[in-house]
Amino acid sequence: MNDFIIAPSILSADFARLGEEVDTVLAAGADIIHFDVMDNHYVPNLTIGPMVCKALRKHGVTADIDVHLMVKPVDRMIGDFIEAGASIITFHPEASEHIDRSLQMIKDGGCKAGLVFNPATPLHYLKHVMDKVDMVLLMSVNPGFGGQSFIPGTLDKVREARALIDASGYDIRLEVDGGVSEKNIAEIARAGADTFVAGSAIFGKEDYKAVIDAMRKELAS
Ligand code: DX5
Ligand code: ZN
Repeated sequence: MNDFIIAPSILSADFARLGEEVDTVLAAGADIIHFDVMDNHYVPNLTIGPMVCKALRKHGVTADIDVHLMVKPVDRMIGDFIEAGASIITFHPEASEHIDRSLQMIKDGGCKAGLVFNPATPLHYLKHVMDKVDMVLLMSVNPGFGGQSFIPGTLDKVREARALIDASGYDIRLEVDGGVSEKNIAEIARAGADTFVAGSAIFGKEDYKAVIDAMRKELAS
């Protein structure tokens, strides 16, 4: 896998042609697929669930599927997504009654596990579970919708999370989600992120490869 991972969010893809959209964006150079699950309860929107993940696997998608759970309660969905072929499952710690248990369920299912932090959620939830976390996902918008603007204060949080991860000695990816584009990706990487979710910046354009190439060029600069 690349040092920098580009994870298009299919929230901004054409749902009526989802299999084709995923094939196209992977052929355009995406590393993994970011899969946003919203429940109209934890966040004010409703998207896709395990059946759609399973359908993408059946369609032939072999790339990692990075499932971002914006749901409450969390645990019921974990089993369903393991079954459906998820590779990485992340959830918001404040949405889980038992964070350690939820992480362990994901690991027991053979998936990578991660915690997601809203812009105002402190990183202290990480402290006692670093050994079970493969991914820290920092939201750079309030979750629920694609196409929002990157909240600049996230950069300080990226630096804070990077310091925590480095000090822990664990192999943990640092992902940023929301308002990421070829215009700010280099700055986010410089702050310490290594995995980038982008929805509208990629699917909002005709030529996915041109955007992903532009992002890689920025990351190499
Ligand atoms: C927001 C989602 C994001 C969203 C990002 O709640 O978690 O993954 O799709 O969309 P953009 O890149 O358009 O901000
Ligand atoms: Zn997301």
